[in-house]
Amino acid sequence: MIRAHNLARRYAEIKEEFLDMMQDVYEREKVYHGHYTQVAEMEWQRLSGRKHAMLTGSCSMSLHMSMLALGIGPGDEVIVTAYSCPASETFVHLVGATAVFCEVDETGNMDASLLENLITERTRVIVATGMYGDMHDHKTIEAICKKHKLVYMNDAAQSMFSTQDGVESTTTGDIVCMSMAENKPMPSLASCGVVLTNNTEYYYKFLHLHNHGKPRYGRRLPYTHFGIRAMADEEAAVQALCSMKRFDTWQSRRHEIGKYYDSEFSRLGVPARKHSAGWNTHKYPILFRDKFEAQGSLELMGIETEAQYPDALPKTGDFPNTDMYVKQALSIPINAHLTDAEVEQVVKAVDLVWKSNSI
Ligand SMILES: Cc1ncc(COP(=O)(O)O)c(C=O)c1O
Repeated sequence: MIRAHNLARRYAEIKEEFLDMMQDVYEREKVYHGHYTQVAEMEWQRLSGRKHAMLTGSCSMSLHMSMLALGIGPGDEVIVTAYSCPASETFVHLVGATAVFCEVDETGNMDASLLENLITERTRVIVATGMYGDMHDHKTIEAICKKHKLVYMNDAAQSMFSTQDGVESTTTGDIVCMSMAENKPMPSLASCGVVLTNNTEYYYKFLHLHNHGKPRYGRRLPYTHFGIRAMADEEAAVQALCSMKRFDTWQSRRHEIGKYYDSEFSRLGVPARKHSAGWNTHKYPILFRDKFEAQGSLELMGIETEAQYPDALPKTGDFPNTDMYVKQALSIPINAHLTDAEVEQVVKAVDLVWKSNSI
């Protein structure tokens, strides 16, 4: 099977270094908030240029914690994208607020030109979400947030390190929430998240909130707030560091594959989603007539694909672009551990399946 993520090959590449560091973790006898968490957080500060970086258990936890830090609750509205995974919506419901959905454009990204019509006197936050490795429309969203005095959150789980007009995704937003899950652009081997901000007040709140209201380094100090358990453990930090070290090499291979797909699919007339010039190669969706049928055919040909996403987030309303993506967009493998022969095999199989499953 040609794998969507090639976890086994990725593990084989990092194994020696990973196991050495894990040995050190257990010798230090500190599995939370230890040396590697600190190093990974400093590395994130360096990479993003942000004042504060905190490792968390997942992007979902970062998003939930951000809602708590901002004091979002019943009666508040939070604008989110209509097309993403449930993690892009659930954190709003968990604090009792209302999610207001923004339709996506023809690239699957939040259509920022629709945002102002969604703002009411209850709106508190816009969560900008880049999809498939593109960055969201930063300039427009930032201007709207400033004009309406809204918090600008950047869910950069998929868009980290992509750029738009020279601006890099992790540098934008009052709060940036990111995922280092095993299927993300900078992946761990399982689950890990990050939250970035320049706002020291938010950061101090995160320091308490991610540990049930206890400050990170003060088990004997009193509870100041309620909180959640959103800590990353040292193993996640070690996985993150192994990945950060190899990110540039992995990205250059993924860009090579992306360029090859772009030229082959345009030559063959197979419709691939149009990505921006500054995308980070996160996903490569092909638009089939029926993606689930195409997924079944490709599986029989030994190719693992991902049906992001099988549902629209809004339960009601008119979201034609979202509906199109839900029905048609199937992500094909684009990972750094594919061989040239596998990449060619993917192109041939996609072309064949598309001929009997075209729009
Ligand atoms: C846009 C977006 N936001 C948030 C998440 C949640 O990330 P995690 O799995 O780290 O909680 C994902 C994961 O798929 C995502 O794609």
